[in-house]
Amino acid sequence: MYLLSTVVASLAVFFFLKWMKKRRYCTDVKRLDGKTVLITGASSGVGKETAVALAARGARVVVACRDAGKAEKAVREIKLRSRSLAVVGMELDLASLRSVRRFCENFLRREERLDVLINNAAMPGVLDWTEDGFSMCLGVNHLGHFLLTNLLLGRLKECAPSRVVTLTCSSYKYQKLDLHDLNYNLLPFFTYCRSKLANVYFSHELGRLARGKGVTSFAVHPGLVRSEWTRHYSLLFRAAMRVLAWMLSASCEAGAQTVVYCAVSDEAARLGGGYFVDCRPATLRPFARDAGVAKKLWEASERLVQPP
Ligand SMILES: NC(=O)c1ccc[n+]([C@@H]2O[C@H](COP(=O)([O-])OP(=O)(O)OC[C@H]3O[C@@H](n4cnc5c(N)ncnc54)[C@H](OP(=O)(O)O)[C@@H]3O)[C@@H](O)[C@H]2O)c1
Repeated sequence: MYLLSTVVASLAVFFFLKWMKKRRYCTDVKRLDGKTVLITGASSGVGKETAVALAARGARVVVACRDAGKAEKAVREIKLRSRSLAVVGMELDLASLRSVRRFCENFLRREERLDVLINNAAMPGVLDWTEDGFSMCLGVNHLGHFLLTNLLLGRLKECAPSRVVTLTCSSYKYQKLDLHDLNYNLLPFFTYCRSKLANVYFSHELGRLARGKGVTSFAVHPGLVRSEWTRHYSLLFRAAMRVLAWMLSASCEAGAQTVVYCAVSDEAARLGGGYFVDCRPATLRPFARDAGVAKKLWEASERLVQPP
């Protein structure tokens, strides 16, 4: 009896872990020849895998990274794995609004097209501040991408039909936004959750504002992924997370599938954007669908990114 219950329990755990790691793959084989894709934070993790997948479909891929050395290394790897030479690196530090403006000037001067913008880069929960005095999570994950998207929106409209895919996280649901205290920086995990909720509202409001202008906006949760996000933490935490990641997380390639799906699939475009998980539309918690909050966050963000 004891043996039997041990076997049953082990099987249950085995299938649960297998189910946790299971991901749908993007089956749409559409190519992106002649299209230009810009991906932030493509030096590692989900961003790098997305870059490989889209370059392999014929897109010209611009990888925007804050570290020139890492960018160069990533570009070499993406070219090799995608068998494409149309991959270029550009410097962008989302923790600096000055850098975002400089990047956009360079990008608009150098690149004729922008068909897909992928707002992927993110800082996990760390209690630090950006050059402009914003909490690191709000500054990098939301405000940097907010300014970037707005400065490139004209080019996205010129190249319509175009898409903006913004990476969020299902942990958005653990916090609510305080519009009077957007710069909340007290508990690391909660600052991250709030920035990811801001990504959801941003994506929603962008979709509303760009409706009828040929720009479709997607918010994507890639699921738990074995990326390099733990590098910002202590050795002990990294070791613990590595064990958990091995048990519960999918590969970065699997994590990139919903991003690729939203970037290429006609089916996703026909659905008109929205929140996607595991290559299909998903339902957000009601408070995250509040169009009034999304509009107010957009207006507050416009004020915050104004040059001094
Ligand atoms: N991993 C997961 O389980 C998971 C779950 C849900 C959602 N997500 C979301 O998926 C996206 C990708 O995450 P990931 O797991 O692939 O993380 P990752 O491996 O840590 O990659 C994050 C990328 O963002 C870049 N970045 C960080 N700060 C930047 C800045 N100031 N300016 C420009 N780039 C910056 C990093 O560059 P450096 O290499 O220079 O640091 C890196 O390339 C994120 O939006 C994350 O919130 C991930």
